Amino acid sequence: MELKNFIAGEWVESGLQAMPIINPATGEQLGTVPLSTKTEIDVAVQAAKEAQKSWALLPAPKRADYLYEIGFKMKEKKEHLAQVLTKEMGKVIEEARGEVQEGIDMALYMAGEGRRLFGETTPSELANKFAMSVRSPIGVVGLITPWNFPIAIATWKAFPAIVAGNTFVWKPSNETPMMAYELAKIFEEVGLPKGVANVVFGTGPTIGTAMIEHPDVRVISFTGSTATGSKVAELGGKHLKKISLEMGGKNAVIVMDDADIDLAVQGIVWSAFGTAGQRCTACSRIIVHRDVKEELEEKLLREMQAITIGDGLDSKVKVGPVINRQALEKINHYVQLGKQEGATLLTGGRILTDTPYDKGFYFEPTVFTNVQPDMIIAQEEIFGPVVSIIAIDSLEQAIEVNNGVRFGLSSSIFSRNVNTIFKAQQLLDTGIVYVNAGTTGAEIHLPFGGTKGTGNGHRDSGQAALDVYTEWKSIYVDYSGTLQRAQIDT
Ligand code: UN1
Repeated sequence: MELKNFIAGEWVESGLQAMPIINPATGEQLGTVPLSTKTEIDVAVQAAKEAQKSWALLPAPKRADYLYEIGFKMKEKKEHLAQVLTKEMGKVIEEARGEVQEGIDMALYMAGEGRRLFGETTPSELANKFAMSVRSPIGVVGLITPWNFPIAIATWKAFPAIVAGNTFVWKPSNETPMMAYELAKIFEEVGLPKGVANVVFGTGPTIGTAMIEHPDVRVISFTGSTATGSKVAELGGKHLKKISLEMGGKNAVIVMDDADIDLAVQGIVWSAFGTAGQRCTACSRIIVHRDVKEELEEKLLREMQAITIGDGLDSKVKVGPVINRQALEKINHYVQLGKQEGATLLTGGRILTDTPYDKGFYFEPTVFTNVQPDMIIAQEEIFGPVVSIIAIDSLEQAIEVNNGVRFGLSSSIFSRNVNTIFKAQQLLDTGIVYVNAGTTGAEIHLPFGGTKGTGNGHRDSGQAALDVYTEWKSIYVDYSGTLQRAQIDT
């Protein structure tokens, strides 16, 4: 399949180059994605700008009606979308269904916002004067989304943007453009007014940059690596754009000495090796109390024996491939580094090269132990199925290790002691904290995002997402018929 851009409601060919879309499980070519240029961004932004004028004037509940239709259509196509997602991205089919569900949930949740979008009314300090604040749309927003959650993360951004009265131009990842194509097809099928949603395929340096620099794009919402996010912020800052960033993580599961170790092991396996470790929320550190370290390691190794690796379309498979060859090499590089740094390789550590793995990009689920908190493998985001075990002797130390990284997305603690749990949730400096569960599994009606190197203070999901896509307007209505001066005639 040769993908085309979706601009102003039309499927438009981009004349220049195209790139192959590869199934990471098999190496099979699924199609091609065009690499667009600045010109296509200009056309798409113009279409979005034009459409936004009437879209913003449509009552929000009417805008929301489209989101309901989109959500219902996604539900109808759930299995198809999940299959395409697994083929293109590699995550196992059960997780792909979960991701599509996340998008459906977001559509219906944000549709509900069409009848809320609450502002405030407040008494004026003057008589016969009314004061209120309302959320106003901002205009055209630019979305830049990653390959690891190609449909869910797109919906986290696109749906609050449009319910609030904005229109958007979306640059999906070139690794997973088919999900963007599928979503654009749904926009077309439900009759979303032309120009409200535009999809342009291409590279970050070319079209991402063009979008950020475009004077008519007022907001950029980005999810991806911290290195790229920092460039987006730098360029966006120069052009005074509102920039919402969601970036890396180095998430830890803390296992205290009073924890249910079996449960902790299940939480670790799910959050460290699910999606082959390619979630920003993935567990990549296990901070374990020294008294239960040995028991945890033993049980973890046993549980890992049951992991089947392979093509995610096979329902027995628990861990699929990683996204591409560069990812495989990057993960391998960190594993070699871990060995050089003196960590003990407990299991895994290899690129799988025998048949049938040789056609795709598979890395063995890997555990290092006796890791020191300051080792590179315990500090940098690896984005693969690799986890490091760090021993601690107290809750205070666990929290210090957890917080001693430059990221702050998700953390988790396993304990049966209510005091320990409450103390931890207060002191863990991440945007998301789990108690007696792994580090993944955020629900769409709560804010999603992190502190420090993970973000820049904004949040996807929940009502917090509306803050990214709206501007506050304060309105004062004086019905006294006289000149009343605030702060003076009170
Ligand atoms: C991501 O890894 O970028 O909480 C998103 C989770 C998923 C979303 C992950 N609901 O793990």
